[in-house]
Amino acid sequence: MITRKSKREIEKMQAAGDLLVQCHKEIAKLIKPGITTLEIDTFVEKFLAKHGATPEQKGYNGYPYAICASINDEICHGFPRDEKLKDGDMVTVDMVVNLNGGLADSAWTYAVGNMDEKGKRLMEVTKTALDNGIEQAQAGNRIGDIGHAIQTYAEGENFSVVRDFTGHGIGPTIHEEPHIPHFGLPNKGLRLKEGMVITIEPMINEGSWKSKMDENNWTARTIDKGRSAQYEHTIVITKEGPLLITDQDK
Ligand code: MF3
Ligand code: CO
Repeated sequence: MITRKSKREIEKMQAAGDLLVQCHKEIAKLIKPGITTLEIDTFVEKFLAKHGATPEQKGYNGYPYAICASINDEICHGFPRDEKLKDGDMVTVDMVVNLNGGLADSAWTYAVGNMDEKGKRLMEVTKTALDNGIEQAQAGNRIGDIGHAIQTYAEGENFSVVRDFTGHGIGPTIHEEPHIPHFGLPNKGLRLKEGMVITIEPMINEGSWKSKMDENNWTARTIDKGRSAQYEHTIVITKEGPLLITDQDK
């Protein structure tokens, strides 16, 4: 079912979003060669508990951690682990914060130490692809408009768009209808309406878009070992345009 959120529900999701932004800003300071993704996971658990919030991903369909931490060729749903990040690694930290029942979902890719030029470009293009998708998240537009904006831009920059994972409606659970693909055709698909809350979260690869599943049955990685980057925001469709509840720049 596609729900449209009340003003009260949106306020709660915004409060969760504000906390999630704070958490990402702390993670940005922690990420250095030598830290492990398990340490980041522990940090997030403590940070959220201190602020009266919970990590919604933990226990979701049996997912065992507070965050997903996907390194280099891992596309998404990487397990935090006891292995030091190295200079030049790329790591995407994805989490969903639950604060008093309000949810917010945001993933961010971080460079560990010095990043090579191709890696920097992959990260920049992925962020701009997200921004281009968000621009299309307007009441009256269709879901295909979002995917089309992302796909044409990213492919025009000679990167590829992951097909096997999409953005989604969010609230009251993490994954609600509708699916928001990061590829598609303009003027196709469901029409966006005021009060809908969705995520847009393009995963962009340096090589093939195709993915394979790890033995843990969660982690997706590229088939050619190319790297994958991802940025994700939670967005409310409003009369005044897209409202980012996980905005890091406001
Ligand atoms: N934040 C992830 C997403 O955007 C949620 C993954 S579900 C989990 O879809 F169980 F892996 F956490
Ligand atoms: Co999401």
